[in-house]
Amino acid sequence: MTETQQTKIQVRNLSKVFGDDAKKALKLRDEGLNRAQILEKTGQTLGLSNINFDVREGELLVIMGLSGSGKSTLIRCLNRLIEPTEGDIIIGGENIPQLNDKALLHCRRRHFSMVFQNFALFPHRTVQMNAEYGLEIRGVAKAERAEKAKNSLKQVGLDGWEHAYPNQLSGGMQQRVGLARALANDSSVLLMDEAFSALDPLIRRDMQQELIELQHRMKKTTIFITHDLDEALNIGDRIILLRDGEIVQIGTPEEVLTRPADDYVARFTEGVDRSRVVTARRVMRPVRATARHDDGPRTVLRKMSENSLDSIYVVDRERKLLGIVEAEGVEEAAKAGKDSIRDLLETDFPHVNPEEPLATLYPMFKGKSFPVAVIDDEQRLLGVVVKGAVLEQLAQTGEQ
Ligand SMILES: Nc1ncnc2c1ncn2[C@@H]1O[C@H](COP(=O)(O)OP(=O)(O)OP(=O)(O)O)[C@@H](O)[C@H]1O
Ligand SMILES: [Mg+2]
Repeated sequence: MTETQQTKIQVRNLSKVFGDDAKKALKLRDEGLNRAQILEKTGQTLGLSNINFDVREGELLVIMGLSGSGKSTLIRCLNRLIEPTEGDIIIGGENIPQLNDKALLHCRRRHFSMVFQNFALFPHRTVQMNAEYGLEIRGVAKAERAEKAKNSLKQVGLDGWEHAYPNQLSGGMQQRVGLARALANDSSVLLMDEAFSALDPLIRRDMQQELIELQHRMKKTTIFITHDLDEALNIGDRIILLRDGEIVQIGTPEEVLTRPADDYVARFTEGVDRSRVVTARRVMRPVRATARHDDGPRTVLRKMSENSLDSIYVVDRERKLLGIVEAEGVEEAAKAGKDSIRDLLETDFPHVNPEEPLATLYPMFKGKSFPVAVIDDEQRLLGVVVKGAVLEQLAQTGEQ
C-alpha cells in the first residue's frame, strides 16, 4: 500500500482498565508501574495502555500478539463493544467514545462489521438467510437484502450454496458465510477477530489467500486479529504488535522481520521463513546502465565495458524494458558492421514485480546467468536482483 492513503481511523491515547477504580490504575501506570504490578496492587487489569495508531483507508491491518496481550480488547474498543476508559477513536469526523447511544448505533452500522472465530452462524437458517441477517435486523427491505447477500456470497465464492444449511458446509465454507454476512452490511470497516484460527491449517492458508484477493478487489479497510505470526506476515499490509496491552511495533511485515523494534520482537520473529516475506524491492539494486533499443552495437559495447557488464537491459524511449542482450552477441554484431542490436534482443528473461517474495525469485536463478529484473506495472525497469543478494538475505536471522 502507498503512503498517500488517507486515514480511516485515528486512535489516540486509548486505554482500557478492567476494574472499578480505573483512575487509580491509570495513576499508577503514569507513575511507571507495569501491568503486573498494577494488578497486584489494585486487582485491576490494564487491558490497553496509551494506544496510538492510524488505520489507513483500504488497508489490511493486522493486530498481533500473544494471548492476553489485548487484541480483542482493542478491536472491541473501536466499536465500543468494550467501553474505553480514556482516549479518542476518530472515524468519519466523529469521536466514538463521545457518541451518545443513538449516534453510536448509527456509527456502528455505517462503519463496522465483525467476523468471529466461531463463525456464529444460525444452524436453522440457510446460507442465504445467514448472509442476510445483519441487513434483516437493520430493517432493510426483503428484495434489497436478498440481492446484497447474494452478491456478497458471490464475492466469497459461495454462489450456488444459497439454500444449503451451515452443517452441510466445511469449516472454511462456514467462515466464508460469516465473511459474506459481514460484507453484505456494506460497512466501511471489517473487524476480524481470530477469524481463521478455528480452521485446519491448509484451509486456513486458502482463506488467507482469498482474503488477500478479496481485499485487493474490494479495497475494504480490514482490521484482522491473530496470535499467529505466520498469518500476520502473510496477509498484513501492516502489523501492530501488542504486548501486555501496549504497542511494541507498527510496521510492514518486512519491517517487523528485518528491523524488529526490540529483542522481544526479534525473538518472536526468529525462525520465520524470511523467503516468504522479504520482497524483491528490498534486495534489488539499481541498474548500472541500460541500452536503448536504437543504440548501435558499438555504443552498447561501450556502455557495457564502462560498467563491467556482460549483459545489459534494453529499454525504449519511455524506459520500458524490452529485453536483454549479451556481450558476445553485441561484439559479433559490431564486427559484422550491423547498425542495430534489435536482432539480438532476448525477450525471455526472468522478471518479477517489486512485491514478489524471495521464495519466488530464488528458483529463477537456475540455469540462466542473468540477474532477475524488477519491473513495475508499466514494464519500467526498477532494479535488478542478483543471486548473492537473495542468499545474503535468507542467511540473516531476525536480529541484526
Ligand atoms: N471483561 C474483562 N474483565 C477483566 N479482565 C479482562 C476482561 N476482558 C479481558 N480482560 C483481560 O485483559 C487482557 C487482554 O485480554 P484480551 O482478551 O484483549 O486478549 P487477547 O490478546 O485477545 O487474547 P487471546 O489471544 O487469548 O484472545 C487479559 O489479561 C484479560 O484477562
Ligand atoms: Mg482475543
